[in-house]
Amino acid sequence: MTLWHGRFEGGPAEELLAYTVSLPFDRRLAADDLVGSRAHVRGLVRAGILDGDEAAAVLGALDRVEDELAQGSFTFVASDEDIHTAVERRVTELAGPAGAKLHTGRSRNDQVATDLRLFAKRELALVAGRVLDLQRTLLARAEAAGDEYLPGYTHLQRAQPVTLAHHLLAHGWALARDVDRLLDARRRLDVSPLGAGALAGSSLPLDPAGVALDLGFERAFDNSLDAVSDRDFVAESLFALALVGLHLSRLGEEVVLWTSEEFGFARLDDAYATGSSMLPQKKNPDIAELARGKAGRLVGNLTGLLVTLKGLPLAYNRDLQEDKEPLFDSLEQVSLGLAAVEGLVATLTWDHERMRAAADSPTTAATDLAELLVRGGMPFRDAHAVVGGLVRESLDGGAALSDLVAAHPDLGPDALALLAPGAATANRTTPGGAGPAPVARQLDRFRARLDADTARLAAA
Ligand code: ARG
Repeated sequence: MTLWHGRFEGGPAEELLAYTVSLPFDRRLAADDLVGSRAHVRGLVRAGILDGDEAAAVLGALDRVEDELAQGSFTFVASDEDIHTAVERRVTELAGPAGAKLHTGRSRNDQVATDLRLFAKRELALVAGRVLDLQRTLLARAEAAGDEYLPGYTHLQRAQPVTLAHHLLAHGWALARDVDRLLDARRRLDVSPLGAGALAGSSLPLDPAGVALDLGFERAFDNSLDAVSDRDFVAESLFALALVGLHLSRLGEEVVLWTSEEFGFARLDDAYATGSSMLPQKKNPDIAELARGKAGRLVGNLTGLLVTLKGLPLAYNRDLQEDKEPLFDSLEQVSLGLAAVEGLVATLTWDHERMRAAADSPTTAATDLAELLVRGGMPFRDAHAVVGGLVRESLDGGAALSDLVAAHPDLGPDALALLAPGAATANRTTPGGAGPAPVARQLDRFRARLDADTARLAAA
């Protein structure tokens, strides 16, 4: 029996059910649906619509449904088009006429929006916690990296050496913005739609603010039409998750490069690498590659929902049912990705010798040579040309850059210290820069930010 059987003479066609049911995926909202229904029952009691006995019967039935779902003994029937229908049907079977009062003043439109907000509120916090875990791992590896350094790149061409800690923390700060974004999206979605009914509210003396409080929402909706048609919170969540995914992808790409034989900066742990079915020598960075690959899917989930929402008239339209699968998928994929990438990063073995050898090419000190000339009063553009000329001369003619530097009247033997191994890294002294001195201060700031965000999440 459908929820609307009174108005209809016949039952639904098989094809209609096959195309429109959402039960296979929205079962995931069962726990939140029960929480929302209990609050609604208490609201109906306060409104004088359910008496104490009726409320006890319905709440008892909701508990029973919870047990049946937990034990796997809940039997779904063909007409259960979604989890909301299934729960209400079973509550009515169990509680009789009192159960039939559960849906008073409520529509699945405000119900599903409520469930999804409760769900997203919890899940976004869990993801933020996992992002913090990855940040802690990056921090631990940065702390342990000491003053070790590697080439920094622009255009994937060696540019200036950076400390490994600095490089790892660069990913850590991107993730800090993710935590901020996830918690911010969570704060904005903290609004209860329950009491909006199908679209216009109710003639019954319901109290949306009281129900919002009961559900732990910060407040109730301001406009019933907006309450049932707003999916900004899903779009925002998908964007925040897509950006986490993009950050995992960019980190993954560097792991792919660094663990290649060509770079050789890091080795994969056996537990976080895969082999080849044919090539016995292979050890592949599949986690890093999938972190890269799945970013496409996360962006697709966001794009798909934005297109679904575009052009929808107020208020509820069945199109909105398409909000759930992308949200479930992005939450799941980002959670799995964060855990896998964390393990990957935690277990990488660095090859510091390879990193240093790549970073210590004399040309990486070129900017420092130019800045030495600037200290002597030369305009930077001229200094750039002087050093650029020496680099070109050394590459063309085979003379060592150090010899050309020593022989140059404005540089001379004193400038050779700038070409010494590690000097280019140590000379990065400005705040937020890549050298050991500013990185030590950056580590302090990163630790403080992690502590603050951990506390923020705990308080949320
Ligand atoms: N399964 C539906 C969804 O997820 C529930 C709301 C259905 N409302 C309706 N008026 N048909 O959106």
